Amino acid sequence: MSNANEKRQAGEAAIRYVEDGAIVGVGTGSTVAFFIDALADLRDRIQGAVSSSEQSTAHLKKLGIPVLDLNAAGPLSLYIDGADECDPHKRLIKGGGAALTREKIIAAAAQKFVCIIDSSKQVDLLGRFPLPIEVIPMARSLVGREIVKLDGQPVWRDGVVTDNGNWIIDVHGWRITDPVELEGKLNQLAGVVTVGLFARRPADVVLVGDREI
Ligand code: A5P
Repeated sequence: MSNANEKRQAGEAAIRYVEDGAIVGVGTGSTVAFFIDALADLRDRIQGAVSSSEQSTAHLKKLGIPVLDLNAAGPLSLYIDGADECDPHKRLIKGGGAALTREKIIAAAAQKFVCIIDSSKQVDLLGRFPLPIEVIPMARSLVGREIVKLDGQPVWRDGVVTDNGNWIIDVHGWRITDPVELEGKLNQLAGVVTVGLFARRPADVVLVGDREI
């Protein structure tokens, strides 16, 4: 079961990575919400944030933190985000909140990715949490059939449209023994926009509550 107290601790602890003058990459979710609340105290000391979702953008703006475009911001020194699962190699499953595409873009643009989680997200093997995949809507059935060939059970997240206008398939039943290989394989499927595996670009630092691992 997830632990709100640990989420708060992790969100607040992540503030120590924020340097004066920084443009901070900001993820999405309930753990990141605690980080954004804490970041508001530093708003006069940073240039602003690059946001991974409409949800986080609204939260940042409400607290007076400038939201910048990634193209204008350039390479980022820091990205703070949560995860749905984290293995001992800091490889992640993300996308439970359907924001995986912009999250992956910001993670790729950031020098340091600090992942903030509660202890319920720690696993030895990724895959208990269904793997989110963002797809172009017309490719939903095609991608689903390809996933079945790979022994996964695809479930369409019916009713959810991503910030990019796409759909999400959640894949159940995979024990992901080689996440780097699977991420590459899924990335090749026509119609796949983003795979919620962050194995090729894992986190650099993981905070479980206020404890760095
Ligand atoms: C958003 O799409 C996800 O990648 C989130 O980072 C993940 O779902 C973690 O969310 P919580 O912090 O709400 O558990």
